[in-house]
Amino acid sequence: MIQVALYDAKPYDKPSFERYGGLHNVQFRFLETKLNEDTVALAKDCDAVCVFVNDTVNAAVIDKLYAFGVKLIALRSAGYNNVDVEAAFGKIHVVHVPAYSPYAVAEHAMALLLTSVRRIHKAYNRTREFNFSLNGLTGFDLHGKTVGVVGTGRIGRIFIDICRGFGMKVLAYDRFPAKDSGIEYVPLDEIFENSDIISLHCPLTGETRHMIDAAAIEKMKKGVVIVNTSRGGLIDAEALLEGIKARKIGAACLDVYEEEADVFFEDRSGHILNDDLLSRLISMPNVIVTSHQAFLTEEALNNIAETTVNNILSYFNNDGICDNELCYRCGNIERCRRERKERCF
Ligand code: NAI
Repeated sequence: MIQVALYDAKPYDKPSFERYGGLHNVQFRFLETKLNEDTVALAKDCDAVCVFVNDTVNAAVIDKLYAFGVKLIALRSAGYNNVDVEAAFGKIHVVHVPAYSPYAVAEHAMALLLTSVRRIHKAYNRTREFNFSLNGLTGFDLHGKTVGVVGTGRIGRIFIDICRGFGMKVLAYDRFPAKDSGIEYVPLDEIFENSDIISLHCPLTGETRHMIDAAAIEKMKKGVVIVNTSRGGLIDAEALLEGIKARKIGAACLDVYEEEADVFFEDRSGHILNDDLLSRLISMPNVIVTSHQAFLTEEALNNIAETTVNNILSYFNNDGICDNELCYRCGNIERCRRERKERCF
């Protein structure tokens, strides 16, 4: 039986992980706490840890896991900016779930966009109180608008297809443009200057952190709608708030937030929120916040559990070779070109 400490476990994680784990002799120990230096000891007698986006997997945590003999860090997410893959190199192997349902995230991005531009969030609240007034609910057509998509990987491309279905003009920027994709790539500044809507679908890296900052917002069209279902750190939230207060930004749809780790995924109703910036953003009539929910579909949860269990089996039963391994080079901006025929180290 392979023992796995699954940190930051939520009720919606358990059924799928118990089902797939039970089929393959992988036993998950569900821990509600997040992984960090204080909680790492809970993984002491485990073969692997399974972590999510807000677990802290820094060099200190990795060293402790290594000292405990933990062999594998299995991310149950696609993004891995919370894992110091460089520090893990040579010590503990890291695997992730590269794709579980890119449709879930792309569809959520469009759901946020539609909610925002057609004021569905306001209408929902009004009609529940039998307020059937339409005043202040005027939206705009997406048809004919220009959407700038940053990152044309799995999710970005599906989002592009959805936008095309709405009759929108699509401009895209990617550090590694996809050849022969029929996508019109332009420099990032042109995305900022020409887009009515900007949707972010690239990973958070040193290069992309705060790619939407005051200088970028300055270049944007007045009334631009910004959609972020990728990672909070892509946006300087202070600058975003200033852009909203200056009436430059027409609306913001945020599924992620840079300082989300201590807030998102938890029920904080009845508590005083210490994050003034988040409180201020949420108080804005043209800001919609969902708490890192874009991935949350039945299909995605099943795929996440199935792929995670397969990653674990692949590592422990296949001489450490796993297609979904991340290594130091994968953590670099340059994509890893290693052929997956052997272990990273
Ligand atoms: P992917 O790896 O298929 O695509 C990412 C794209 O971004 C690639 O085409 C890559 O070339 C591009 N890119 C890399 N560096 C860039 C840069 N500096 N500037 C512009 N583009 C750059 O990833 P996928 O599956 O499409 O996911 C995208 C992001 O969505 C993930 O990094 C993750 O942060 C986020 N995500 C959010 C979820 C949520 O629930 N909100 C769930 C899953 C992913």
